[in-house]
Amino acid sequence: IKTIGVLTSGGDAPGMNAAIRAVVRTGIYNNLRVMGIKRGYAGLLQKEIMEMDVTSVGETIQRGGTILQTARCPEFVTLEGQKQAAEICHEMGIDAVVVIGGDGSYKGARALSHQGIAVVGIPGTIDLDIACTEYTIGFDTAVNTAMEAIDKVRDTSSSHERCSIIEVMGRNAGYIALWCGIANGAEDILLPEKFDGDEQRIIDNIIANRKKGKQHHIIINAEGIGDSNGMAKRIEAATGIETRATILGYMQRGGSPTCKDRVFASTMGALAVDLLVQGKINRIIAYKDGEYINLDIDEALEMQKNISEYQYKISRILAK
Ligand code: F6P
Repeated sequence: IKTIGVLTSGGDAPGMNAAIRAVVRTGIYNNLRVMGIKRGYAGLLQKEIMEMDVTSVGETIQRGGTILQTARCPEFVTLEGQKQAAEICHEMGIDAVVVIGGDGSYKGARALSHQGIAVVGIPGTIDLDIACTEYTIGFDTAVNTAMEAIDKVRDTSSSHERCSIIEVMGRNAGYIALWCGIANGAEDILLPEKFDGDEQRIIDNIIANRKKGKQHHIIINAEGIGDSNGMAKRIEAATGIETRATILGYMQRGGSPTCKDRVFASTMGALAVDLLVQGKINRIIAYKDGEYINLDIDEALEMQKNISEYQYKISRILAK
């Protein structure tokens, strides 16, 4: 392998720049040419590719978003698109591509590997919903951003003795909701993996807490359940307690990455290049049981994940 490409795909996540920087600088350290592919697979198909040097990633480690930009690319789902992408890699002399993204991006990477281009995946998503790994780039920053925002909502919620429903991101997974629920001491946490739609239980909990003298009631609702505004109206009607919904939205995806995201992303970026240098291809980098590991891309894509039952259990006990 002489030339590698690097791209970010799917939703952006704070820390992606640290990973790109590590790929570029570790690649150059190992005498490889490194090509930055803009806008994910869409940019690959459009040949938006430029050579990167050590200075092109200067001043990026502290920046949120992704300097390579990102996109979701429907054309790349077709075999024709995948063949065309592989041809472009051959034409540009790209032997391997480091893909920073989530499961959807790995499916694209696997397709590219079937067309003869070596790939390595790095987990990048705020949702933490990649089965093979306990860490994904951006999750730590996103939960810290959401946690701070929820603390602020809680201040005003207590002053007005209101109930607040705060909706956090996570697509179909409840990791951000669960972590914020624990970190913010939320009275209720609604996770797609757990919530059976029983709003009466929440209403009873609000009334019981009010009787106990609690001034506020914070409900963290995961995006995968949604309908926070509708829920607020129904809760207010049933309890007589003013209830407001706040949807945190895209602010959770932005901002300067935390130390953890910078260090993990840097390590994973360097590891991706090390694997390629050692001739280990079509792997996904992961973090499990306190160690960085790598898995075959097919195996990684078949794995299943669920939220921790223990964490969920304690979140309920601690919220009393
Ligand atoms: O995967 C990250 C994420 O922010 C999810 O939490 C959310 O469901 C989705 O991306 C939103 O995607 P888009 O940027 O396409 O609206």
